[in-house]
Amino acid sequence: MKKLNGNLNIFNLAVFISGRGSNLNSIIKHSLKKKSNYQVKLVISNNKNAKGLTFAKKKGIKNLVIDFTKSKQLIKKIILELNKKDIKLICLAGFMKILPGYFFKLYNGKIINIHPSLLPKYKGLRTHERVILNKEKFTGCTIHYVNRYLDSGKIILQKKIKVKKIDTPETIKKKVLKLEHKMYPEAIEKVLINL
Ligand code: GRF
Repeated sequence: MKKLNGNLNIFNLAVFISGRGSNLNSIIKHSLKKKSNYQVKLVISNNKNAKGLTFAKKKGIKNLVIDFTKSKQLIKKIILELNKKDIKLICLAGFMKILPGYFFKLYNGKIINIHPSLLPKYKGLRTHERVILNKEKFTGCTIHYVNRYLDSGKIILQKKIKVKKIDTPETIKKKVLKLEHKMYPEAIEKVLINL
């Protein structure tokens, strides 16, 4: 963490991704704004082909590809890197791996995730399909703390949108993603202010 103008704290962030990385991109974009209270210092992916890695590379942000299935050694490598970069908050953004329990313990209250539904409804995958199948009137996006249970930690920020009769899983996906891109930076700032 460094201090600017004696009163604005800038916190270091790590973002974990597995694929497209559109949320990573919006998080980085927001960090470049004058008023932002964070900077992305580290991007970690379990997938070397994750498109999102290009956003980190373009901005010269340190990025690591880690095969999470391999061993405890690799998790140690992540912890070392998180310490080295003085990371205050870990943001999961489309990260498809389950982290080990001891990692959650170590970073208790310091890992957050984004999920494309109104949690506690529709945890897990294929959220938009299920929303349409169940003829929900609303859906949305949730940013929450991560604990060892899937999509179950304390909610930080949640916003909803209307599901119209003509909506399909694809149209809903687009609308929710747009909302995600606005909400994740907002939620990050909210968490950091309270650290
Ligand atoms: C987003 O819809 C997010 O809510 C979910 O996975 C998707 C990741 O998209 N957890 P992207 O990789 O950020 O584009």
